[in-house]
Amino acid sequence: MTKILMVCLGNICRSPLAEGILKSKLSPDTAIVDSAGTANYHEGSEPDRRSIAVARKYGLDISNLRGRQFTVDDFDVFDLIYVMDQSNYQNVIRLARDEEDKAKVEMILNLVHPSQNFDVPDPYYGGDQGFENVYQMLDEACDIIVNNLK
Ligand code: 4NP
Repeated sequence: MTKILMVCLGNICRSPLAEGILKSKLSPDTAIVDSAGTANYHEGSEPDRRSIAVARKYGLDISNLRGRQFTVDDFDVFDLIYVMDQSNYQNVIRLARDEEDKAKVEMILNLVHPSQNFDVPDPYYGGDQGFENVYQMLDEACDIIVNNLK
């Protein structure tokens, strides 16, 4: 059983989408998938309505997810921690206690473009197209996660 955590800043736009997409591609007995934000602004909040809408467009319901903040305990629970951008990466790495913690953290688009450190752009202040772009990027990355688990 692999435990995978998706991390962004607010845990309302990108990482809940990543969680929903990956869960839809895996059976619950293969992996545990969760998401968190490095900030606590949206603790207990449902995903941004634009993330809920783009997920629904592709047949996924993420409306039941609720925001929570990443904590150091997540290093003990999860095997793989995928961050959306370089700022998330720094914020998570800052909390790592040792090399084992650090080794769990990876920029999610490095699955698609190895070692390039490309960001999944924060769509919060943009329009609906940004959410569509984020969906497509995450869908491609999640297909690779699923293949890597086989
Ligand atoms: P996320 O997007 O990190 O993809 O959830 C954001 C959501 C909220 C804020 C920033 C980014 N905010 O500043 O409230």
